[in-house]
Amino acid sequence: MAAASPILCFLSLLSLSSLVSSTTISLPLSHFTRNPSPDPYQNLNHLVSASLTRAHHLKNPQSTTTTTTISTTPLFPHSYGAYSISLSFGTPPQTIPFLMDTGSDLVWFPCTHRYICNNCSFSSTANPPPLNTFIPKSSSSSKIVGCLSPKCGWIHDPDIQSRCSDCASGSSNCTQICPPYLILYGSGSTGGLLLSETLDLPEKHVPEFIVGCSIFSSRQPAGIAGFGRGPPSLPSQLGLKKFSYCLLSRQFDDTSKSSSLVLDGASDSGEKTDGVVYTPFVENPKVAGRRAFSVYYYVGLRRITVGGKRVKVPYRYLTPGIDGSGGTIVDSGTTFTFMSGEVFELVANEFENQVKSYKRAMDVEAKTGLRPCFNASGHETLSLPELRFHFKGGAEMGLPLENYFVIVDNSGAVCMAVVTDGVVGGSGGPAIILGNFQTQNFYVEYDLRNERLGFRRQSCK
Ligand SMILES: *[C@@H]1O[C@H](CO)[C@@H](O)[C@H](O)[C@H]1NC(C)=O
Ligand SMILES: *[C@@H]1O[C@H](CO)[C@@H](O)[C@H](O)[C@H]1NC(C)=O
Ligand SMILES: *[C@@H]1O[C@H](CO)[C@@H](O)[C@H](O)[C@H]1NC(C)=O
Repeated sequence: MAAASPILCFLSLLSLSSLVSSTTISLPLSHFTRNPSPDPYQNLNHLVSASLTRAHHLKNPQSTTTTTTISTTPLFPHSYGAYSISLSFGTPPQTIPFLMDTGSDLVWFPCTHRYICNNCSFSSTANPPPLNTFIPKSSSSSKIVGCLSPKCGWIHDPDIQSRCSDCASGSSNCTQICPPYLILYGSGSTGGLLLSETLDLPEKHVPEFIVGCSIFSSRQPAGIAGFGRGPPSLPSQLGLKKFSYCLLSRQFDDTSKSSSLVLDGASDSGEKTDGVVYTPFVENPKVAGRRAFSVYYYVGLRRITVGGKRVKVPYRYLTPGIDGSGGTIVDSGTTFTFMSGEVFELVANEFENQVKSYKRAMDVEAKTGLRPCFNASGHETLSLPELRFHFKGGAEMGLPLENYFVIVDNSGAVCMAVVTDGVVGGSGGPAIILGNFQTQNFYVEYDLRNERLGFRRQSCK
């Protein structure tokens, strides 16, 4: 994880954007700012629990509360093991940072001077920087979405219009607003009103973009830009044919660098990007009451190998069943890849069996929540079996060591950067969630026109 110069960064950004036509927009993508604790165990612990909380949420997206007028849209706590982009909304434009999230579909920002956020200071410093909030009053293009707008149905039930009680049928100038949204997740929430606003992208104005104006949240480090499949997501509203990113290598203490997120409105049909291998997206399971499952990007993971040896993962984990359990999704908001109990055990055991040159570091396992950990102190080079994912269609993702083993600072120990809930038999929802730690220094392309995921190794700098 060598430090890259800002010039190199800039060059890589240029080389990426020069590949693309004028219908393409490139935005800087950077690590979400956080202040790491001086205790490396605490940092890892935080990422482990954030990855697990998120996995729990992605797997169990139903909210626990139900009301008749407010429905829920899934979202979840983002760790700081996430990536952010800045987007400008309004007239004149106000620029707000967002976590980039392929596991949800609403775009929302902290909104108004009165925005309240409980437990939102995740920083270990006493005075975290003030949160950027969007001020609708300062924008001449802000409009609250009406109850009769079909876009209100994007976040509520499609039949919301029949419940706009103040709007007598046929009245075209009804002023009732779209009911507030309330989004619940494992340990946090956000709520507010839907706005129609101008999204100001480099060289492109997008009028009447639907965005959530959140008035209160808990445990949210920033706004969230949903890149999933639902109608309110950024790719859906912009009609993107493709988007791609290259995730900077994860350096927990460095946040000034960025790579780019490329939004492509006119990909040529069938054309492949140089050096990129593709796997088709797998059809989403349709499960009543689990709208979130239709938002995720499912891929066909067929096989996992450790050191060239096939791990015998039972088929039911590799393919989503009719109840929506099983299958693999790619999620930019998850840090460490999640594997269902049985899958995890098979993979972890294979590493434990194959690694003979280092001692297990059980004490480090206890402190970090990761497994297996090995004590590599005193060894000049680190050598561990390769972890490789084999996808439908033949695409293979052979991970560089730093993408699946994390070095525990100063301890001389390394730990496998994969988490599990330990539930044998699977706990519903995706069995495997491919996190962003595993795709550092990969170029990843979501080719929506051709319904496929593409990737290649690339230094993102
Ligand atoms: C913040 O989190 C702590 C611990 O999780 C909890 O006890 C407290 O009630 C929360 N505060 C608010 C205002 O939600
Ligand atoms: C529009 O609103 C005005 C006042 O708010 C009302 O008098 C009028 O009847 C409404 N028109 C229709 C078509 O509903
Ligand atoms: C690793 O092993 C060395 C010597 O064998 C020992 O001094 C050190 O404490 C061990 N580190 C951990 C994290 O277990």
